[in-house]
Amino acid sequence: MAQFSSSFLDELISRTDLVEVIARHVELKPSGSNNMVGLCPFHHEKTPSFSVSVDKQMYYCFGCGKGGNAYRFLMEHDGYPFPEAVEYLANKAGMPMPEARTVNPKEEARKKQAYHLLDQVASVFSRTLQADEGKQAKAYFAQRKLPDSIIQRYQLGFAPAGYGFMQRCFGSETHTLQQLESIGLLVKNERGYADRFRGRVMFPIRNKRGQVVGFGGRIMGDGEPKYLNSPETDFYHKSDLLYAYSEHRESIRKHKMLVVVEGYMDVLAMAAFDLPYALAPLGTAITEQQLSHILRLHGEPVFCFDGDRAGRQAAWRAIERMLPILKTEHAPKFLYLPDGEDPDTLLQKEGKNAFEKRLKHDAQPMLNTWIQGLKNIAGSGAEGRARMAKKADQMLSKMQDDYLRQAWQVEIENISGVMLKQTKPTQYMSKPRQTSTRKMAPRLAVTPMTHEQFMAALLQKPSRFQLLPEDAFHFFVDSNPIFPIYTRAFSLAGDDENTTFDIAAQLMREFPDTDIARWVNLPKVEDEAFQMLLRDMHLAYLKAQLSQTENLSVRIKLQAELKALQAELKALKPTN
Ligand code: UTP
Ligand code: MN
Repeated sequence: MAQFSSSFLDELISRTDLVEVIARHVELKPSGSNNMVGLCPFHHEKTPSFSVSVDKQMYYCFGCGKGGNAYRFLMEHDGYPFPEAVEYLANKAGMPMPEARTVNPKEEARKKQAYHLLDQVASVFSRTLQADEGKQAKAYFAQRKLPDSIIQRYQLGFAPAGYGFMQRCFGSETHTLQQLESIGLLVKNERGYADRFRGRVMFPIRNKRGQVVGFGGRIMGDGEPKYLNSPETDFYHKSDLLYAYSEHRESIRKHKMLVVVEGYMDVLAMAAFDLPYALAPLGTAITEQQLSHILRLHGEPVFCFDGDRAGRQAAWRAIERMLPILKTEHAPKFLYLPDGEDPDTLLQKEGKNAFEKRLKHDAQPMLNTWIQGLKNIAGSGAEGRARMAKKADQMLSKMQDDYLRQAWQVEIENISGVMLKQTKPTQYMSKPRQTSTRKMAPRLAVTPMTHEQFMAALLQKPSRFQLLPEDAFHFFVDSNPIFPIYTRAFSLAGDDENTTFDIAAQLMREFPDTDIARWVNLPKVEDEAFQMLLRDMHLAYLKAQLSQTENLSVRIKLQAELKALQAELKALKPTN
C-alpha cells in the first residue's frame, strides 16, 4: 500500500507555517501570545470566530466547528486532494517527496499532462480571439458589451470554424489526439478525429483550484445548439462545477455577496458592471453538490431566476435540493426577474444601480418563495390548504436541521390551519446498494470514537475491507451517519486498483461535509489494534441485539456468541 509515512507527514507539518497557508485567504490578527484570529473562510460571519493556534499548528472555528491542520485546510478550503495538498506543502517547505509516495505514478503523470493540455487549449483559444482570425468573435463580444479587461480576466477565446484546428495547434501524433479526445476537445468518428468546438466563442471552465477542466462555447448569433459544453471527462463533472468559482471566490468573501445566475453571459455581464460575485451552473438544473459549494462559500446567496414559468420551476427545484443541506445559519434568497429578462439584459437596459436595488430589495427569503410555490401547486379552498400541508410535510421531512424544520413547520401550520404530522428527517445520504437478509441492527453503544478509528483503519489500508467478517456490515446501523460512507467505501475498495487516496478522494467528493480527510490523517492504526476494534464493535453489536430481542432461542444463541467473544477479548487484552 503506497502512502505517506506518518513520520514524513509529521515532519512536513512541523516545517510548515500554518499561519502563512491560511493568511493567503484570511486576514489574521494576533490574539493572545499564541493565537491568531480572523473571519472564518468556511462560513459567513461578521465577527471573527476563526482562530489559528500557532504552537499547535491547528485552526478551529468556534462558529461553524471546522478545524484541522494544514493538510485539512488545503483540502477543505482549496479543494486539493490529499496527496496534492502534501505535494504543495512539500514544495513550499523544500522537502523532497518520499520515493514510494506515488499512488499510481502513471495515472498521476497522465492527469498532470491532461491539465497542462487543457491549459494550453485555453491559451490557444484566447490567442486566436486576439488574432486576425478572431475579428468576428471580437466584434461579437463588443456587441455584447464585454470589455477587453473581462475578456482577459476570464480568458475568453475563440474556436475557428471548420475542422482540423486542434491538429494544426497540437500536431497529429496518435498520443496527442487520444489525449485531446480524453479531455473532450476532439470527437472520434469513423473518419478520424473531429474538433468538438467550431466557430464558437469559448469560455474556459475551471475547478476550485483554478485549473481549466472544460469549456463552454457559444455560437455567434442564432443557431443550434446555442451553447455547446465539454462532455463529462475525468476532470469535467458538470454537476459538481460552477462557472467562475475560482475566479470569484475571493471577491465573494470580500463583497459578502453571492449571486447565482443561469448563464455564463450573466456572470460576465455582472463582472463587467463591477459586480464580480456571480456563479452559474453549467447548463443543467442546479444540483445538491453545487448548492452545497455555494452555501459553504456564502450563507446568504441570492438566486436569480427568470419570472416565467420555466424560471419558477427552476426555483422550485433549487428549493427542493437545498432543503436537505439547509441550516439555521443560512439565509438564501430568491429573486424573480421580469419576464424574459436575465441579469445581462437587465444590466444593459437599466444599469448597475437599478440591478443592485433589485438584488437588495426584491429578493425574497427562501421561506416566502417556498410558501408561494406551495400555494401555486395546491390551489384554493379547504382542499387546497390540505394539499399544501401534505406537500409541505413531505418536503419538510427532507430537512436535516431540526430547529429550522420546526420553525418552518409552524409557519405552514399557521398558513394552512392544518397540523402537520410530526415529521422526522429521512436518511439524507443514499442507502447502500448491498442488500442483506438480516434485519438492520439496532442503535449501537459503540462510541463515535470507535467508529472513527474503524474508518481510519479501513481507509488507511483498504485491503482490510477483505478481512471483515460477514457480520461487519451490521456493526453499523443505518441511523449512524458513517453508515453510508462505510458502505460506499466498501464498494470502492472492491476494486483492487483503488488506493487509499483514490477511495478517500472519491468519498470526499460524494460526502463533502464529513470527516474523511481527518480519518485518513488519524495516527496509523496497526493491524492488531484493528483486530481489537473489530471485536469491540462486534461486542457492542451483540449487546445491542440482546437488548432488543425477547425471543428466547435467539437470546441463547446471542449470549453464547457474546460469551465466546468476551473470552477471546479477555485473552487478548491485558487486564489492568
Ligand atoms: P440561456 O439560453 O438562458 O442563455 O442559457 P443565456 O445565458 O441568456 O445566453 P445568451 O445571453 O443568449 O448568450 C443559460 C445557460 O444554459 C446553458 C449555458 O450554460 C447558458 O449559459 N445552455 C443554454 C446550454 O448549455 N446549451 C444551450 O443550448 C443553451
Ligand atoms: Mn442572456
